[in-house]
Order: sequence, then structure tokens, then C-alpha cells
Amino acid sequence: MRRVTGVVRPPGDKSISHRVLMLAALARGQSALSGMLTGDDVKSSARVLRQLGADISRIRESGVRISGSRLLAPGSRLNCGNSGTTARLMLGILAGQKFAATLTGDASLRRRPMRRVTEPLKEMGADIIKEEGDGLPLTIRGGRLRGLSYTSPVASAQVKSAILFAALTGQVPVTIREPYRSRDHTERLFTHLGLGIHERDGAIVYEPSSPSNIPTFQLSVPGDPSSAAFLVAAAVLAEAGELLIENVGVNPTRTGFVVVLERMGAHVERVNLRDQGGEPVADLIVRPAQLRGTEVTAAEIPTLVDEVPVLAVLASRAHGGTVFREVGELRVKESNRLELIAANLRSVGVRAEAQGNDLHVEGMVRPPRGNVETAKDHRLAMAFAVLGTVDGAKVTLSEKRSVAISYPNFFADLRRMYARRTTDDAR
Ligand code: S3P
Repeated sequence: MRRVTGVVRPPGDKSISHRVLMLAALARGQSALSGMLTGDDVKSSARVLRQLGADISRIRESGVRISGSRLLAPGSRLNCGNSGTTARLMLGILAGQKFAATLTGDASLRRRPMRRVTEPLKEMGADIIKEEGDGLPLTIRGGRLRGLSYTSPVASAQVKSAILFAALTGQVPVTIREPYRSRDHTERLFTHLGLGIHERDGAIVYEPSSPSNIPTFQLSVPGDPSSAAFLVAAAVLAEAGELLIENVGVNPTRTGFVVVLERMGAHVERVNLRDQGGEPVADLIVRPAQLRGTEVTAAEIPTLVDEVPVLAVLASRAHGGTVFREVGELRVKESNRLELIAANLRSVGVRAEAQGNDLHVEGMVRPPRGNVETAKDHRLAMAFAVLGTVDGAKVTLSEKRSVAISYPNFFADLRRMYARRTTDDAR
């Protein structure tokens, strides 16, 4: 019998880690951050910011020191690795600089769409001087920007944040509308630092304040709810026990996973609710549960966009079918997640299919068995590793190293959650 027990702490929030590094690099003087994610994506942001002149100590969870100053023209291409957040948010920052810089990334990132960001930045006056198709590499020359009122066709925090960073560095006003509210970490950080942001008639409005200096700051980054989701899912799929997951960000723009999971029949208890740098944080208590299928609506998707792989895995263990509506965005994540979730579920014996932009998953009682192609996508690797914890399962991943992107200690934490076999089990 699989029994979960003990206490785990997910790593620092990836989205917030990128943003605080960037804001600290733009502030004139020394900032101090703790609880940072040490994953490869955050290291990509640190590397790029160092190339632009920021002085950043080694990325450690215990503490990172950043000495920000005016950004300088880089001597070589800025390699964003696997990180879409680095590429898109840096484009916003670079739009406000009076020099040219070329961004590139690994094979996965080079395939991902950038026009959703470069289009509004061009409207603000940035010059995209070399682009190949819709992806990287591309060269941007920023400079004197003008204000923008923009209605984004996608609910993307990366698009929204790129525009906000351009407005901040270019000192121009912007108004942004999005079809559904995407994660609001940039807005919260701007508020926390007193950077002229507010809401007006459902739109996000930034107005430069004077003096326009970005203050230095100290901040402790909360644990990543997207990483915690894998631990929650493993605990729900166990047969006995209880798991305490400490220090998890519970920002409502990120917790759609918990909302859907509760609708499916699990209960995630929040205790010790507190505020950390303008973000709500709690400890979570999770127990195993019998799940039933559900419908995940298009409006819910932005609040759980990175959790669809693990929710689909949970749906495969539920009673009945689950449908995820309007998840076409998953095609342009680190991999084509929409097709790969369905194909990998099928290869372990589950009935699953992408129909148009919807994903359908049928619950199954038999243990999952088969090979999984992760396409080096960290969230696919972790989601299917969780499926592999089911009693009797035999799930083989094509690779495991990709977890270092967002959760370097994932496999160690997952192993630690399981109590030793009890005498009952041994019988
Ligand atoms: C992120 C936003 C989301 C998410 C990504 C991180 C962010 O992407 O999938 O992992 O930090 O802003 P989109 O904004 O493209 O939806």
C-alpha cells in the first residue's frame, strides 16, 4: 500500500523568481532575494541580465544579491535557454533600452511564438530589426517609446508583463486588457514597489510616477504552486496517509488546480495563511481521495495553464471522463503539450484525445503501463512520474533531467513522501 507522510517544501516560484531578478537588476543599488528557484530557467534570466551588466551572485535558495545599474549593450547574443519567460519579459525590458540585442534559445524555445510580444512592443516604438518567422533568434533595438492601449488576444502573463516592463523602462503609460485574467505577479510586484500600477474598468493601467526610480528591495519568494501541484497529485493518488506541503503560493490567479481538484472530490486544506511580499502564501494538507471526472472551462485555464499535464494524469485515475476546454495554448508551451499529453496517456493504456482545442481524458481503473516521451518538457516528465506512483504502475520516462528546469529536487522529494512499507503491506 502506498502511504504518504511527512513534510515537503516546493522550490521557489519560477514566475516570481524571474520577475524579482529583473526588477532588482533595473533598480540602482543592491537588492537581496531569498527562496529563489535555483532551476535552469531562472539561471537563464540571471545569465542574460549579467550579460547586460547586472552584478548577480550565484543563484542560491538561501540568498541572492543583485547590484542593479543602467543596462549596457551586450557583447554577444542573449541565450534564454529553455525559458519563454526570460525571452518574452526581457524583450519588454530591452524595448526600453537604447541599444540593439539579439535573443536566442534552445531548440524548443526557438520554435515558440514571439510575435504576440513583438507586435505590441513595435506599436510602442521598439524596432525589431531581425526576425526569422515567428520565433527566435530575433534582434530588438529599443529606445524612445510611446504609450499603448492594448487588448491582448491571448490571456498570457508573459505578453502582459513584457508590455508592463517596456512601459516601466521606457517611462510611458499603458493600458492592457486580456480575455481572462492571467497570473498577476508583475502587477503585485509593481504595487509592492510603488510603481504606478492600478486597475481601471477591468483593465491594468501603468502610469509612470515621478521620481521614476525603481527602488532596491528585499523579498522572500514563495514556493511555486505549479511545482506543489505534482506533490498534491501524488498524495491524492496514494492510498493512505497525509502530506503537509509548506510555503506554497496561493495567489488566486494560480490556484485553479486546487479548485478543479476539489470539484473532482479531493480536499486540499490551507493552513497558516500569510502574506509574503504582496503574495498570499499557505501550507497545504493533502490526503488520498477517490476522484470523479469534471469539465474544466476555458475561463479556468489561465489559472491552471501549467497544471493541465498533471490534472490530465489525475483525470486518468478518476471515475468517468474529463474534458479540458480551449487548451490550444498548450501546443506552444515547452513542447506540444496538447498532443503529447494525449499520446502519452494512450501509450500507458488510457483513452485520451485532443479534439480541436479540447482535451478529453477517460478515467481508467487498471494500473498504467507503458513508455512516455517527455520531449524534454519538465512538466510532462513530472506529471507522468506522478502517474508512475500508482500501485502496480510501470511508467518509463524517456528522460528525467528536464525536471531541473523548474524543480531540481523533484525526484528526491517524491521519494521522501512515501513511508516505509508497513507490516500490513508486507503480508
Ligand atoms: C508564465 C506565464 C505562463 C506560463 C509560464 C510562466 C509567466 O505562460 O505558462 O510557465 O511567468 O508569466 P503564458 O503567459 O504564455 O500563458
